[in-house]
Amino acid sequence: MTTMLIRGGTVVSATGRGAADVLVDGETIVAVLAPGSTLLGHDLTASVDTVIDATGKYVIPGGIDAHTHMELPFGGTAAIDTFETGTIAAAWGGTTSIIDFAVQTAGQKVFDGLAAWHEKAGGNCAIDYGFHQIVGGVDADSLDALPKLIDEGITSYKMFMAYPGVFYADDAQILRAMQVAAEHGLMTMMHAENGPAIDVLVAQLLEQGKTDPYFHGVARAWQMEEEATHRAIMLAHLTGAPLYVVHVSAKQAVEQLAAARDRGQNVFGETCPQYLYLSLEEQLGAVSEKYGAFEGAKWVCSTPLRSRAEGHQDHMWQSLRTNDLQMVSTDHCPFCMKGQKELGLGDFSKIPNGIGSIEHRMDLMYQGVVTGELTLERWVEITSTTPARMFGLYGKKGVIAPGADADIVVYDPNGHTSIGMPVDENGNPTGKKHHMNMDHAAWEGFEIDGKVDTVISRGSVVIQNDQFHGRAGHGQYLRRGLSQYLV
Ligand code: URP
Ligand code: ZN
Ligand code: ZN
Ligand code: ZN
Repeated sequence: MTTMLIRGGTVVSATGRGAADVLVDGETIVAVLAPGSTLLGHDLTASVDTVIDATGKYVIPGGIDAHTHMELPFGGTAAIDTFETGTIAAAWGGTTSIIDFAVQTAGQKVFDGLAAWHEKAGGNCAIDYGFHQIVGGVDADSLDALPKLIDEGITSYKMFMAYPGVFYADDAQILRAMQVAAEHGLMTMMHAENGPAIDVLVAQLLEQGKTDPYFHGVARAWQMEEEATHRAIMLAHLTGAPLYVVHVSAKQAVEQLAAARDRGQNVFGETCPQYLYLSLEEQLGAVSEKYGAFEGAKWVCSTPLRSRAEGHQDHMWQSLRTNDLQMVSTDHCPFCMKGQKELGLGDFSKIPNGIGSIEHRMDLMYQGVVTGELTLERWVEITSTTPARMFGLYGKKGVIAPGADADIVVYDPNGHTSIGMPVDENGNPTGKKHHMNMDHAAWEGFEIDGKVDTVISRGSVVIQNDQFHGRAGHGQYLRRGLSQYLV
């Protein structure tokens, strides 16, 4: 076993910060020590195999991105990051675990869908990975499979109130699934948008010739999100099922979550960097020489970007501070413009939905610390500790403490990160390049007053000195327990 000492840094947890040295043996953290400690008279610096100098830097538990879609078939194409490219990009950005969504489609057996996901991910991930289960067809068979997922280390599943004809579940199906979930302690994750009503609005807009990407967001109005969020909460209330609403973007949806939490319900919400930083107005204003107004396709995702004039973004930041929202995931679902987003030229409803951000989540949220939106501790909490607790990984993940996996990020507050991938007219990068498999950056031009310095995954250095030292296949499958966040 190799040993490692990360010395001189400020260890930051969800509850505090302090100068400390972190001792790692093999894949595990074995001690968090007063700075410069000796152990049983041994000078640690001389006794360990590797010393990492974290002087002037933060030492935090590795990021956990609990919402990713590697290789997701969607909109007639598939998300362009493989488990290999996506997890390498994650590592570059200080994320050391992902929870991706295995997919069951209507008519398919849940365990067949799950097996296909193990096939895609197994042996290909650079960091540890777990799965949630998408249940795209709620029937007797999938209801029967739900509790059996727990033995597979899958303790959460997602349903969709959106996307009729694809993943959509109606209220009757949702009620039945929640009854099963409540009985067994599974977390129900919900894509909360009123899909059937949205589809009417989409058809009407297209009939009026409103085909640009911007109208994706017009059709998916906040009322559609608030209404579905409320309905999901009521069905969860009735059945007693814990509920986690994914990719929350409307402030009115947060108010529904907050009201439910005030009633004592086990109701939680995540938001994503795009709903904190980007807006519908900016999407409307995005026009390029190559694509004209279709440039806005880069930011087509569901739920959509919201109006800044309506104040959704500020409300998301505030909700993260007040714990009305508990955590931030990316909903990483990358599609290239060329050949993928382009499927929706002339019809926004055919643009594959999704943004790629897995590489930037830790940086983008750290910038919230710089701007005073979040404390340092809250940054760690919403990007690592709460994701671990929410999805049954805490103890091994989400914390720097003896016995935890040595998933550690050394973050430099004096460093700088310029995000993006400028390209020439042929789509070739002209300078810096992110590591996601996309031909563009949804975050072009974002500047971060901080930098991922060193990334350690189960005791192995994967990023150091601006180099990737990891390997596809290092990442192990995470068998998750039940949520540790329930009241
Ligand atoms: O636009 C998105 N969010 N694409 C991924 C699928 C989903 O609904 O999470
Ligand atoms: Zn050893
Ligand atoms: Zn969704
Ligand atoms: Zn998603």
